[in-house]
Amino acid sequence: VATPLVLADVARARRNGSLVVLEGFHALKHAQRFGAEVLGAWSADRAELDALRARLAPDVDLRSVVEVERDALAAVVPRAQVVAVARRPRLVHPDVLLAATDPAPLVLLEDPRHLGNLGACVRVAAGAGAGGVLTTGHQDPWHPDALRGAAGLHFALPVYRLSALPTAPRPLLAFDPEGETLDPRAIPPGAILAFGTERDGCSEALLERADARLALPMARGVSSLNLATAVAAVLFAQRLAR
Ligand SMILES: C[S@@+](CC[C@H](N)C(=O)[O-])C[C@H]1O[C@@H](n2cnc3c(N)ncnc32)[C@H](O)[C@@H]1O
Repeated sequence: VATPLVLADVARARRNGSLVVLEGFHALKHAQRFGAEVLGAWSADRAELDALRARLAPDVDLRSVVEVERDALAAVVPRAQVVAVARRPRLVHPDVLLAATDPAPLVLLEDPRHLGNLGACVRVAAGAGAGGVLTTGHQDPWHPDALRGAAGLHFALPVYRLSALPTAPRPLLAFDPEGETLDPRAIPPGAILAFGTERDGCSEALLERADARLALPMARGVSSLNLATAVAAVLFAQRLAR
């Protein structure tokens, strides 16, 4: 891409697989904090942005944010007070991650549909110290709505879309409300923690591939938890049990 970028380049960046669009203060803050190469950033209210930075993220340098007209910003991004374009990080091939012996768990989301939910899973995975987030299905986990849901924490850990379920020789635990009750102390190091799609849950193929099918025990009458809530409960149960 030719730099410096201008605000009109944001629309093109959305269609460019080597770039990501960051919408909102928190997405930009985390992206900067975790080493994103930000190619351009625009806000309609510098003073408000500086006040937010001073209050919430004094470690983050936002001096390169360019002030633009409010209408011009709203035409590009209707709801955010700041929008930025960053280079999509070059990640090692997912097979390299899957073959590594890091004891941190990997989160696998099977065909997640809701981008905000997907982002919330990335955010909690980063917060819990997971080794990465893998998705299957058609959604791009680097979509701006997912980045917004993750508050930009995609830059804190590897996030990939896979073309098929992983076959790596790591233990794979499928989370399913019909499974056996989870004992978080029994989760093996380096496990792939797999979660099903929002409406239909884990596929037959995922359940067949899994070494165990585990449940978070719920109160009577409750069918299931929200996807990101289930991911959070499992990751933090394991983290607290370690
Ligand atoms: C919204 S739920 C899917 C609901 C689907 N009707 C089902 O019964 O699996 C999305 C995913 O969150 C995870 N999940 C939700 N509640 C869970 C629970 N109580 N125990 C284990 N996993 C759960 C599962 O991985 C599930 O596939």
